Amino acid sequence: MFRTHTCGELRLANVGTNVTLAGWIQTIRKFGAITFVDLRDRYGITQLVFNEGLSSQLESNPLGREFVLQAKGKVIERSNKNLTIPTGKIEIELTEFSILNKSVTPPFTIQDDTDGGDDLRMKYRYLDLRRNAVKKNLELRYAVNRSARNYLHENQFMDIETPFLIKSTPEGARDFVVPSRMNPGQFYALPQSPQTFKQLLMVSGYDRYYQVVKCFRDEDLRADRQPEFTQIDCEMSFVEQEDILNMFEGLVKRIFKDVKGIDYTESVERMTWEDAMWHFGNDKPDIRFGMKIHTLKKPSTVYFNKQDHSGLINGANFAVFDGAETVLAISVPGGAAYTRKQLDELTEWVKRPQIGMKGLAYIRYNEDGTVKSSIDKFYAEERLKKIVETTVSNKGDIVLILAGSEERTRKAMSELRLELGEQLGMRKKDEFKLLWVLDFPLFEYSEEDNRWVARHHPFTSPKPSQISTMIENEPSIKDASNYLSHPYAQIKANAYDMVLNGNEIGGGSIRIYQRELQEKMFAALGMSKEEALHKFGFLLGAFEYGAPPHGGIAFGFDRLCSILGGSESIRDFIAFPKNNSGRDLMLDAPSSIDDVQLKELNLKINLS
Ligand code: AMO
Repeated sequence: MFRTHTCGELRLANVGTNVTLAGWIQTIRKFGAITFVDLRDRYGITQLVFNEGLSSQLESNPLGREFVLQAKGKVIERSNKNLTIPTGKIEIELTEFSILNKSVTPPFTIQDDTDGGDDLRMKYRYLDLRRNAVKKNLELRYAVNRSARNYLHENQFMDIETPFLIKSTPEGARDFVVPSRMNPGQFYALPQSPQTFKQLLMVSGYDRYYQVVKCFRDEDLRADRQPEFTQIDCEMSFVEQEDILNMFEGLVKRIFKDVKGIDYTESVERMTWEDAMWHFGNDKPDIRFGMKIHTLKKPSTVYFNKQDHSGLINGANFAVFDGAETVLAISVPGGAAYTRKQLDELTEWVKRPQIGMKGLAYIRYNEDGTVKSSIDKFYAEERLKKIVETTVSNKGDIVLILAGSEERTRKAMSELRLELGEQLGMRKKDEFKLLWVLDFPLFEYSEEDNRWVARHHPFTSPKPSQISTMIENEPSIKDASNYLSHPYAQIKANAYDMVLNGNEIGGGSIRIYQRELQEKMFAALGMSKEEALHKFGFLLGAFEYGAPPHGGIAFGFDRLCSILGGSESIRDFIAFPKNNSGRDLMLDAPSSIDDVQLKELNLKINLS
């Protein structure tokens, strides 16, 4: 037998037992004639003792870090106990050992606090994966996977695989394409998601589908994005939005329970997209803390159907605010105590190119009830006090104000809110707050492409009460700069996102299931009839054979794991991830292919 026990298993109760272990050498320590070795495997670390006789054998067979060792001996109680590891009360007094394989010196230490930089660890990912920290992440990932599968199985969902070599499924990114040798000059696309397949499965009658599935998107990468990532992809027939929200709220709560031992008993909060943008400045608000944004002034175009407080802002002859489309304020608890230096730092922070604001105004609401402001040259005390009141400030708070164009200012204020939340310790890693964001706009206008684009994807249905707005109006726009006044801008989708601690962990919608409406949608997105038929004829055709009402959702599996694991980066939860340029540093991929292969594929490389 190769091994009788693992390296994480033995305890005081095993003292006196003869055992055989196998694993990797973590550390070697010599004390006079005795050698101690920490042997590691997936399950833990056990200390081995080479007594004088065996130690002398080591002279002709020296050990090294990461050697693979088989060790036989007796479990004994340790005199010098290590209470930080579960096996720390025992050690193995060796009688025999055998080096199963040697290792060259690893490029970084295989320990929790490794000395290896990111690139090095990616290049030698198979060594990085030996580290406890990474292993824990993969264990968590597997636990989430198991929990999700159990829940879905118990709820009659069926796991059905869908193909990878397909025709484009648009999810708003570029496709990765694969040339076809057998069909010269033609290409498959890798799925950005199994969206159209899961809808076809609904047409086929598999009314509850799921898949833990790879998706491929050629887009700019960030900490929470990989070019290939995994979704828990789900679809249901004969459902309304409410059914989906309940079912998948249940899924995430089950994962919380199984993986983190958290009883998330309260129902998940819900917020409209408009409220999310208005109060938090983005469509995935972190609601672990308040500090809502207050819109003192909003653009004159229809952007939000909400009331601002422009009366407080306008007419003070302050050119910056008068000329700004939008003026937003946030009240920071305890901020009246900010020093000049702290305020300067915050001002520099909002001026950084990523944030792009010109400056930051403030109103201190002092403990004695007085106000002191950077704009008191323009605004009388009474007005400043009204602003303070509008922003629901308490004595001791500070009101921070940003002004500029609507999109940039709202985004900047959202970022500032998150930064302050971080600084004030209000974004705790071990606190989990779920949120449904609902009623997204169906369309967005792309000034670049000069057409409407689907905010979620083209298969998402409009709110039933707004279907007529879509049918009765043509998409064309006379004045692109005024697209918000087009009726399409007001149409809301039957779409929902699930947000966890300020991250979008899932998104889905109730789908269009009638051919005519789907055709109208393609037309609204600027697709000709021929183009729609060429790209999606199969789906339009299927809708003619009794497509049931259906809807679904997909969760970003990697993202969910990283948040549950308390990490910013999804890479840490993927066994073999790519770097931010989409490269696999270990395989050195992508790479060029040889001329023979190019010829077979009828391809010519033309690097200009
Ligand atoms: P969507 O495009 O919103 O919806 O994707 C669903 C979820 O997948 C995660 N995600 C990503 N994770 C890592 N890297 C990426 N590049 C990446 N892109 C997206 C996010 C997101 O919420 N077919 C629809 C779902 C549906 O309508 O049912 C879809 O793919 O967490």
